[in-house]
Amino acid sequence: MTVPPLDTLVPETPPLEALPLDALRRRSSTKWQSYPDDVIPMFVAETDFALAEPITAVLHAAIDAGDTGYTPPDPGLRATFAAYAARHWGWTVDPARVRSTGDVMMGVVELLRATIQPGDRVIIAPPVYPPFSMCIPEAGGVVEEVPLIDDGAGWSLDLAGIDAALAGGARAVLLCNPHNPTGTVHSRASLAALADLAHRHGAVVISDEIHAPLVHDGPFTPFLAASDTAAEVGYAVTSASKAYNLAGLKCALMITAADGPSAVLRGLWPEVEWRTGLFGALAGVAAFDEASDAWLAGLKTTLDRNRRLLAELLAEHLPLARYRVPDAGYLAWIDVSAYGWGDDPARRILTDAKVALHHGPLFGAQGIGHVRLNFGCSPDLLRTAIARIGALAAAS
Ligand SMILES: Cc1ncc(COP(=O)(O)O)c(C=O)c1O
Repeated sequence: MTVPPLDTLVPETPPLEALPLDALRRRSSTKWQSYPDDVIPMFVAETDFALAEPITAVLHAAIDAGDTGYTPPDPGLRATFAAYAARHWGWTVDPARVRSTGDVMMGVVELLRATIQPGDRVIIAPPVYPPFSMCIPEAGGVVEEVPLIDDGAGWSLDLAGIDAALAGGARAVLLCNPHNPTGTVHSRASLAALADLAHRHGAVVISDEIHAPLVHDGPFTPFLAASDTAAEVGYAVTSASKAYNLAGLKCALMITAADGPSAVLRGLWPEVEWRTGLFGALAGVAAFDEASDAWLAGLKTTLDRNRRLLAELLAEHLPLARYRVPDAGYLAWIDVSAYGWGDDPARRILTDAKVALHHGPLFGAQGIGHVRLNFGCSPDLLRTAIARIGALAAAS
């Protein structure tokens, strides 16, 4: 019997409330320590909620026990993630084909090192998460851009462009699924078509699926589950770190689904796995466990409301801004070019509206005149931030 994914069955759960601002300002992380207190930080992808209780409990217990040593080879992550993938996405993951490492970008770099030769070209689809264009040279590759297609209603992969780039010799595609910053959830059909292209040209696909637990308008298709061919050509890299706000704890998973990629994964240097943080692994197990599903559902309710609230707030305060409600995650990609705040409007918004947004041009040339806003916060903070930017617009 095929069990329908849980995400399609659960009625809306009450929203998760963000922590009070004074508690957030006491945090020592990048989001809260990069700017003075008069700035609202909405740039880096951290969220403003208390951790899921099972995560807090396991971390407290580890500290109480002085349990701060090295991470064992399999701290339970593989099986827990496999159960999570089956429960949420109907995806069968073989725990024997999974390994861990320190974080998602570390996993991407190591998989690239193992699958390309120095100087090989690797395709990315801008606008995209800025470290993508840095991790490719770090792994010895050369970035080849095949931008997303914007058809006026949404974004999609430029499959013809990717085909041409692969035919021209590119050896790998670094996919973002769901896509940061647009929040696009790629369709099964486009993922399967991408897999066919990679297979035809003898290339690999590395799919960064870190935002997958936060798909609002699904279904989410894991790349490796898109088709048998996808399993043959693909690697997925994921983590609990975005949805559950665990980025500082350093743990990610590299997943394969066929013998060829699994052999590559097994062949990675043992050090790659030793870099997994123990707290990250413990927290990851607690996050992917069923006991944290209710917390995740509450978070998704909050984010779902915030992504819609943002549309209303922009219509009221920044009517010339162009924003599409994202299908996934807590990041909003906003075109504010109509306001004449220059190529990188986040600079002006930081100086004059005291709201720190991520710089659009860092995501590629498509990001000129754009900002990325993190709405993983309270609705009130979102209201205040957009009102401040609206006041700047009214004054300029
Ligand atoms: C698409 C994407 N990949 C990777 C990361 C970073 O993950 P990690 O800290 O595990 O390297 C982020 C962080 O926002 C992200 O948005």
